Amino acid sequence: MKTLVYAHRGASKLAPENTMPAFQLAYEMGAEGIETDVQLSKDGIPVLIHDESVRRTTNAVGFVQDYTFEQLRKLDAGSWLSEKYENTPIISLEEFLIWAQSKQLQLNIELKNNVIDYENMEKKVYDLLCKYKVVNRTTISSFNPVSIERFKQIDRKIATALLTSQRISGLVNYTAGLGAKALHIKYRLLNSKVVEQCRDREMKLRIYTINRIGAMKKCYQLQVDAIFTDVPDKAIEQRRLFEQLNQQD
Ligand code: G3P
Ligand code: MG
Repeated sequence: MKTLVYAHRGASKLAPENTMPAFQLAYEMGAEGIETDVQLSKDGIPVLIHDESVRRTTNAVGFVQDYTFEQLRKLDAGSWLSEKYENTPIISLEEFLIWAQSKQLQLNIELKNNVIDYENMEKKVYDLLCKYKVVNRTTISSFNPVSIERFKQIDRKIATALLTSQRISGLVNYTAGLGAKALHIKYRLLNSKVVEQCRDREMKLRIYTINRIGAMKKCYQLQVDAIFTDVPDKAIEQRRLFEQLNQQD
């Protein structure tokens, strides 16, 4: 089984995370999937930005939820990474879906609602996935287990994933109990036992954030379903080398 490569916030090592240049670059590099993070603006528009605050990745300060989308899109979300990306805008989930709609890509929409539990976020995101007909190739993930349950109530068939970086006993059973079809864990939680437990449950296992060659090799060796990486080109090349070596055995 081939481990899929998802670009984490797009190809976020070389282009500003969660912006169009990062998504476009990931697509050109041949990533099979894209992971992105969603917050809600003041006027309730799902927007792509990792933090609750705009400080780290734009030229402004304050909370995302205190800016309207029109205000957010005027910020410079590129200069913090490189001058080359000056004035790259924050985009909405809708703009991202319009771009992704025509491309063969798996999507992972991460709801950033574990710090601020945005009102009605699940339904707003779901309606957009339906509008652009991408429900079947999208996984919704969240660190907030209550949100996973809410999503299940909106559509019991949609693929959801619990995200965690914590060592929780009985994690795989707990995740299954939420109705999630996948578990997305931090690399340090990866071992052959969790791989086996997920396989027994027919639960997808995806690992974040895999940027080093050693970690990539371990994921390929354990045949996890997918990795999230800031460097999709490197992950794809390492996967090719790994497959080549294994064919020779
Ligand atoms: O979805 C995987 C990963 O993105 C979760 O952590 O903080 O990078 O959004 P974070
Ligand atoms: Mg994320």
